[in-house]
Amino acid sequence: MGRPMQNVTNRRWLLAAYPDGMPSPDDWAFDTQPVPDPGPGQILVKAQWLSVDPYMRGRMSPGANYTKGVGLGEVMAGGGVGEVVASNHPAWKIGDIAESMSFGWQEWSVLAPDVFGPAGVNKIDAKLAPIESSLSWLGMPGVTAYFGLLDVGRPRPGETVVVSAASGAVGQLVGQIAKLAGCRAVAIAGDDAKLAWCRDIGFDAAINYKTAAELAAAVKAACPQGVDVFFDNTAGPVHDAVMKNLSIGARVVICGRVALAANFGKPDVGERFMGQLIVTRASMHGFLVFDWWHRRSEALKRLAAWQREGKIRFKEDVLDGIERMPEAFLRLLHGKNFGKQIVRIG
Ligand SMILES: NC(=O)c1ccc[n+]([C@@H]2O[C@H](COP(=O)([O-])OP(=O)(O)OC[C@H]3O[C@@H](n4cnc5c(N)ncnc54)[C@H](OP(=O)(O)O)[C@@H]3O)[C@@H](O)[C@H]2O)c1
Repeated sequence: MGRPMQNVTNRRWLLAAYPDGMPSPDDWAFDTQPVPDPGPGQILVKAQWLSVDPYMRGRMSPGANYTKGVGLGEVMAGGGVGEVVASNHPAWKIGDIAESMSFGWQEWSVLAPDVFGPAGVNKIDAKLAPIESSLSWLGMPGVTAYFGLLDVGRPRPGETVVVSAASGAVGQLVGQIAKLAGCRAVAIAGDDAKLAWCRDIGFDAAINYKTAAELAAAVKAACPQGVDVFFDNTAGPVHDAVMKNLSIGARVVICGRVALAANFGKPDVGERFMGQLIVTRASMHGFLVFDWWHRRSEALKRLAAWQREGKIRFKEDVLDGIERMPEAFLRLLHGKNFGKQIVRIG
């Protein structure tokens, strides 16, 4: 199997506290351990890139969300991609590239390729795209944008699609896929440079939710025929403003609640739209990408083809070093990332 570098340590981040409100750097503790040995049927992978994603806020909680939280003192949960350095699995050899959402915030990870589903391990073809793409447009965020928009939002040519957190990992793809589906795409984000990027990749209109004098009026101006598909990544006041502008028969895709990071687990106080749903006969659908995991390769093939044909572009935001994982994650919650936030471990 090969067991390199006996004296190398595994630097990692453990969850130290469950935040009551917005997470802070003190919620994690830096830790150093010997590099673990893979057991029977397992592989040892050296991380090259780690992902940070808004769902991690949910894991910093003792209660179950759609999956259970990380225990205090355990390695913080997260995805990553890297090179296999030892293998006790017949289908994996040293030098293969492995991507998994079971990586954790650490430099070395023991993974079990025979686990299926979202916690499993995917072999990455480094010739297809830079391997870090498997954490972004050619991975979980790409699959989210693809099925969340096409299967749940069901956009039709000529319709108007509004996307919140539009310059982020999921949002920038939703806008571009909406254009490929023949729709008008409207971006909502909190920064003019991010909105300029959204325009550059094809969004037809862009709204800065932080500077718009009256957000619902700005959405109305950008969507004079109403909003046919609302792909909501944020919840909060942005959600409220778009809900006031739904067209008859609109579809609302509830994808994420990043605006509620400071109120996680607390009542989601805001306007109530039951009457609006009746008036517009709109539907609101909670979406979880893992329900589409068995069709993951279908989305990835299509995204890869679009990228090869120059039909989609993608922005990443890179930090360097395992030490910066908490900082990278907090950037997402404070809107400081510009594109998919990833960390190069090297
Ligand atoms: N349901 C699923 O299966 C699934 C899968 C993947 C992701 N998601 C969700 O999709 C959403 C986007 O994820 P992502 O990975 O693409 O993250 P992202 O958009 O790259 O990063 C998060 C962005 O959220 C925006 N934001 C932060 N606080 C906000 C606030 N108070 N109000 C409005 N916007 C705020 C920030 O952009 P601005 O500068 O524009 O504020 C920030 O850059 C998240 O909610 C995530 O949980 C869901």
